[in-house]
Amino acid sequence: MTGVGIDGIEIHTGKLRLDLAETFAPEMGDAPEKYTKGLGLHASSFPDTYEDIVTMGANAAHRLMKRKGLEPDDIGRIDVATESAFDHSKPVSTYIGGCLEQVFDGDLHHANKGERKFACVAGTQSIDDAYNWIKAGRNRGRAALVVATDTALYARDDPGEATQGAGAVAMLIDEDPDLVELSTEQGYGSADETDFLKPQQQFPSVDGKRSVNVYLARMREALVDYEQVGGKIHAEDFRLGPFHTPFPGMVRKAGVLAYRHITRDTDIEDELAEEIGRQPRSEAFEDDEAYMEALSEYTDALKDTERYREWYERTIDPTLDLSRRVGNWYTGSVHVARVSGLKSLAEAGEDAVGKRLLVGSYGSGAQAEIHVETVQENWLEEIDALNIDEQLASRYELSFEEYEDVHDAHNYDEESAVEEFTTPDAEFAFDGWGRMGERKYRFVE
Ligand code: CAA
Repeated sequence: MTGVGIDGIEIHTGKLRLDLAETFAPEMGDAPEKYTKGLGLHASSFPDTYEDIVTMGANAAHRLMKRKGLEPDDIGRIDVATESAFDHSKPVSTYIGGCLEQVFDGDLHHANKGERKFACVAGTQSIDDAYNWIKAGRNRGRAALVVATDTALYARDDPGEATQGAGAVAMLIDEDPDLVELSTEQGYGSADETDFLKPQQQFPSVDGKRSVNVYLARMREALVDYEQVGGKIHAEDFRLGPFHTPFPGMVRKAGVLAYRHITRDTDIEDELAEEIGRQPRSEAFEDDEAYMEALSEYTDALKDTERYREWYERTIDPTLDLSRRVGNWYTGSVHVARVSGLKSLAEAGEDAVGKRLLVGSYGSGAQAEIHVETVQENWLEEIDALNIDEQLASRYELSFEEYEDVHDAHNYDEESAVEEFTTPDAEFAFDGWGRMGERKYRFVE
């Protein structure tokens, strides 16, 4: 069998934009730099009143199928990854399948549909499921549609409010892929954690500071676990490192820890030794506290070296560009990071065929996963076909009062009479409630 991987991607952003520095920071009494420099975020995408996880996911999937010339018969499974589901029984993939059946001839009755839940890592888990299904030979020549879709909203005045976002990423998983091939090797770091959760509630309970440490700890475990099967990772082996990006500042923290880990016992550590000394080894310390302090001092010094800064600018920074403009999309976030990185290589005219990506996914609760992707021959065509820049540029700019109204419109506990800010155009839109409390959708020509 040829390789299996991502054959095509489409992104759909929520159609409203909140400027964090200009509009949000003053109302919060914060310096704009807390957002633009500290968190690394400039704006958030929000769904208009007729948008939700179904419309955004269906719009991304529709565009993907049309662009790749696919019919329902070509799709053998639809998996949706989300942490914003509104039904405990009927999966979002059935709604998305129903939407697609409105616009394509034929039906999706033959397609296995499901919904994956493990916070933000569920999108990557859905890709795994599709990969395994194809590798097992159960796909009968059909491809899998994976849709990662979320309205990542927090309660008003929660510290997480600054990192909100909304959008969907649709991905086609197939043999002989056009974009990237996936490694069989994977590494996991998984533990029972209570850092971010939604126990029967719409908006998350978050222990923000702890969630940052849990992210770093699980990511490190996944990296070590990957090396057991994939061999030692070298800093220069990977062209890009797309990581789950709740906000770019999080990845900035993860980047330096990852670099410290992968340069240990390498020529890079030797070269840097003259400037900042060697990495501390636990054997040289009497207690854990002294060792941790030395590690933290070394990491601070490492962050300021030219060698590290160059690596970060080349490998990590390009993956953060879209995130800066849209906020956290939970399950879609790492997939947005992949696109962002590849898009920057395309814009720079770089030939990326055969280059490798070190992909780090993460979900609170908590689990990290690391795998490797290899860029395929038709990657440029796939990236050039994206219209995400146009979508981002045409978002409606919210005032703070309008933002408050939109937040209420998407809050299940609030009544809101706010009108839509944009007009749906050749896309799926929410169309009211059915007799059993189901949500209904129509394609607006
Ligand atoms: N100029 C420059 N930088 C500034 C600044 C200024 N004027 N003011 C503040 N900053 C910096 C701070 O120093 C800080 O950076 P460091 O962490 O590097 O020191 C950064 O801006 C943020 O400031 P605070 O820590 O004061 O911000 P906060 O406490 O209000 O909120 C947060 C931060 C706790 C992460 C919050 O955004 C949150 O709860 N987010 C949701 C949870 C989350 O995203 N966690 C990430 C890991 S979990 C995950 O990844 C899953 C997921 O998707 C949710």
